[in-house]
Amino acid sequence: ALISLRQMLDHAAEFGYGVPAFNVNNLEQVRAIMEAASNTDSPVILQASAGARKYAGAPFLRHMILAAIEEFPHIPVCMHQDHGTSPAVCQRSIQLGFSSVMMDGSLGEDGKTPTDYEYNVRVTRQAVEMAHACGVSVEGELGCLGSLETGMAGEEDGIGAEGVLDHSQMLTDPEEAADFVKQTHVDALAIAIGTSHGAYKFTRPPTGDILAIDRIKAIHARIPNTHLVMHGSSSVPQEWLAVINEFGGEIPETYGVPVEEIVEGIKHGVRKVNIDTDLRLASTGAVRRFLAENPSEFDPRKFLSKTVDAMRDICMARYEAFGCAGQA
Ligand code: G3H
Ligand code: 13P
Ligand code: NA
Ligand code: ZN
Repeated sequence: ALISLRQMLDHAAEFGYGVPAFNVNNLEQVRAIMEAASNTDSPVILQASAGARKYAGAPFLRHMILAAIEEFPHIPVCMHQDHGTSPAVCQRSIQLGFSSVMMDGSLGEDGKTPTDYEYNVRVTRQAVEMAHACGVSVEGELGCLGSLETGMAGEEDGIGAEGVLDHSQMLTDPEEAADFVKQTHVDALAIAIGTSHGAYKFTRPPTGDILAIDRIKAIHARIPNTHLVMHGSSSVPQEWLAVINEFGGEIPETYGVPVEEIVEGIKHGVRKVNIDTDLRLASTGAVRRFLAENPSEFDPRKFLSKTVDAMRDICMARYEAFGCAGQA
């Protein structure tokens, strides 16, 4: 059944777990996530970015998600729009039937230029008024995502601030978060706590204090009824990097957010955990390996089903680790 983000995360808060929000662009991703959820009895957030709408087209995305709900009627599904850069983008998603939208007013409509606080409040409040009138939830964002190690926002071509960020921009201020929620009435808030989008988050193996856990605690204490969202939560599996590079890929040494750090965040109020890059890496590794080992195969179903297997394993591991399993 289709449910709103508010409904889903209220349950997660009550029972102390976090829900991974996976980005979807194609049938294989949707199938992998739904099968993993069904195998583990987990609730599902399927999120579509502007890039996903451009790739698949809004009607295909919408109907793929509706098909998932039809095939897996026992699994609660939230259909979420990721990183809307204006109230107009959110409005179109609401019209398409999304049950949740993200109004990311931390960056301008180009998805790159950091905005001022008043602008963020204004566009987010506008999106909330519209969405709540339709029973749709809203996620806002306060602060600029950026790796505390590299000072970079990540994602050259996606959503992310340009240039090197300073330390204070990369940590959401708890008092400002309280004021932001009071003024906008967002259901969930994406916070900057040291993660960045994409595969290149950290250049060295994480040492166990990669996230600003104290900052998560302080924000959660100030806004306990607002569900916290962690973007840039891919763990960048080293085993898939090795497979990619073994079979012709060239991806330099890089590290993501360890699953244990995310679990620590969930203990302190993180309820939605955004993951895209991990499924991309697993898909690429699976395709490269299959085609290298089976050079005479040319039926796309053969290599695409390998991507489903690879992604399903990651999704199941996240559902289990985040305490989501058994909660559907
Ligand atoms: O926030 C970024 C997500 O990873 C989506 O990326 O815009 O390339 O679809 P995308
Ligand atoms: P990753 O690039 O770490 O997977 O983050 C995805 C994300 O935050 C989408 O909004
Ligand atoms: Na989002
Ligand atoms: Zn994001």
